[in-house]
Amino acid sequence: MKRFRKKVEALAHDLPVVNPGASEFEVNRWLVADFIVERLLPIVGTHPFPLAELELMTSTVCRFQPTHIFEWGTHVGKSARVFYETSTFYDLGTEIHSVDLPDDVGHVEHPGDTRGEYVRQTPVHLHQGDGLDTSLAILASAEAPVTAVFFVDGDHSYDSVRRELEGIIESVEHPVVLLHDTFYQSSDSGYNTGPYRAIRDLLRQRGSAYKTIDTKTGLPGMTLVFHEKAL
Ligand SMILES: C[S@@+](CC[C@H](N)C(=O)[O-])C[C@H]1O[C@@H](n2cnc3c(N)ncnc32)[C@H](O)[C@@H]1O
Repeated sequence: MKRFRKKVEALAHDLPVVNPGASEFEVNRWLVADFIVERLLPIVGTHPFPLAELELMTSTVCRFQPTHIFEWGTHVGKSARVFYETSTFYDLGTEIHSVDLPDDVGHVEHPGDTRGEYVRQTPVHLHQGDGLDTSLAILASAEAPVTAVFFVDGDHSYDSVRRELEGIIESVEHPVVLLHDTFYQSSDSGYNTGPYRAIRDLLRQRGSAYKTIDTKTGLPGMTLVFHEKAL
């Protein structure tokens, strides 16, 4: 009985990756859903990341199994906690770095004293500075081999997102990047479509080697951008 229970536990932690040698991204969505319901929702809830976004975050980590995750901005640390829980549950040993702006830089969303409160008792590394510059500096000093996933959730203007995605693409060989607040709606909605347009414009220039997967049914929206050779 004891031996049987051990086997069931081990199976529950198997990576939900399907057809890893095929040309398209694929995970076992039932296993990912179980993980979200049982492990993530009690901790982080559905704000700011609704179910489809939690699914894309978890699936990305499982499929690419990065040695490092670089994310900004930290805010209260919910995205960092999602990555930490995913890496821990699937025993990936991912090193997670989360960056937010320094306390003296004014930003409408700066979290102040609550910065990183969801990851304070975890090994997630918290930094203050510009997300892109700080992450690339850490990446440059990391010991090889490094496979990185980036999570871009800082300032959501067109210019910021374009600079950040372009900076990653120019610095990393086969990048894997998740971007938040990327939902597109027509202008009568009054939504900020800057992140959506920044990704679209940049990928039009960069050619067909990049694939995207979007959560598309409503706000806030998340997009996975990856080089086909990252699979
Ligand atoms: C929408 S919140 C991020 C939510 C967070 N990912 C979470 O899960 O709780 C945006 C955060 O990005 C930070 N930010 C804005 N521009 C930044 C930059 N250039 N570098 C790092 N952080 C930035 C803000 O201070 C704010 O805390």
